[in-house]
Amino acid sequence: MPFELSGPLLILGAGKMGGALVAGLLSRGLDPKHLLILDPAPPPETEDLIRSHNLAAATASFDGVEGQPSVILAAVKPQVMEDVFPPVARLAGSDTLTLSIAAGRTIASFEQHLPAESAVVRAMPNTPASIGHGMTVCCANAATRPDQRELATALMSAVGEVAWVEDEGLMNAVTAVSGSGPAYVFHLAECMAAAGVAVGLDAELAAKLARTTVAGAGALLEESGLSAEQLRCNVTSPGGTTAAALDVLMAEGSMKRLVDRAIAAAHARGHELSGT
Ligand SMILES: NC(=O)c1ccc[n+]([C@@H]2O[C@H](COP(=O)([O-])OP(=O)(O)OC[C@H]3O[C@@H](n4cnc5c(N)ncnc54)[C@H](OP(=O)(O)O)[C@@H]3O)[C@@H](O)[C@H]2O)c1
Repeated sequence: MPFELSGPLLILGAGKMGGALVAGLLSRGLDPKHLLILDPAPPPETEDLIRSHNLAAATASFDGVEGQPSVILAAVKPQVMEDVFPPVARLAGSDTLTLSIAAGRTIASFEQHLPAESAVVRAMPNTPASIGHGMTVCCANAATRPDQRELATALMSAVGEVAWVEDEGLMNAVTAVSGSGPAYVFHLAECMAAAGVAVGLDAELAAKLARTTVAGAGALLEESGLSAEQLRCNVTSPGGTTAAALDVLMAEGSMKRLVDRAIAAAHARGHELSGT
């Protein structure tokens, strides 16, 4: 994996997602000397990483920061980004890549604080990134060079799969499917557990069955290489129990219509929040 870094990789905000990225990068062989953490109060897991790998920590005054960062990884909460990013942006040079994972923060909102023609990549990971199984979609501005795209791919690959879109307008659609998507699957597990109780299982066993089934089905979907449709057909015998359940879920596309509405609602909310 190429981690071509000529200057520090500055992590702005090393909380859940920033910390997961640090952990993923270190486990993929990034030399700890490249990392520079800026977070006044990181969570205990990140503190442990900082201590065990002897990572450099920056202060808000940036005393001792040498050279332009190769990458500023902007990973604070979206609502504080407007206050926190501008002073950090002053460190950026012409070769610095700003890589933001902040939900809803547009490329333009970073460009306004950076030198003209600065590379900016907006990335949308999702929460399974915390265990290295994330899905991140990236979108770059025109100033981003091919090698900087490769670098962004390599960095985000530390926490899972990476895909790219060219049209930033699609980031709200991405958020509606993969960004918010894990919560839909968690809710499915909740519903299955509650329904298990309704047909006589005790709550603990029902929750275990739902959790393990969702996790196992997800792993099979990932590892088999078969489509979701094919896997569904493979386990559905005509007239059997699975078919009886799917007759309900798929009657006149009922589950599909519900998911369509849910994702459309997330998409519309994304547009509202980003003012687009
Ligand atoms: N978590 C996810 O599943 C997920 C998914 C997609 C995108 N994202 C994006 O990832 C970003 C981070 O989310 P998160 O869940 O990792 O949030 P988080 O756990 O709250 O991490 C943010 C970190 O930034 C720190 N921070 C606050 N002010 C700072 C400052 N002035 N300078 C440096 N660091 C500062 C926070 O410290 P305090 O706790 O002390 O404030 C915290 O440690 C967000 O923009 C979010 O939209 C997250």
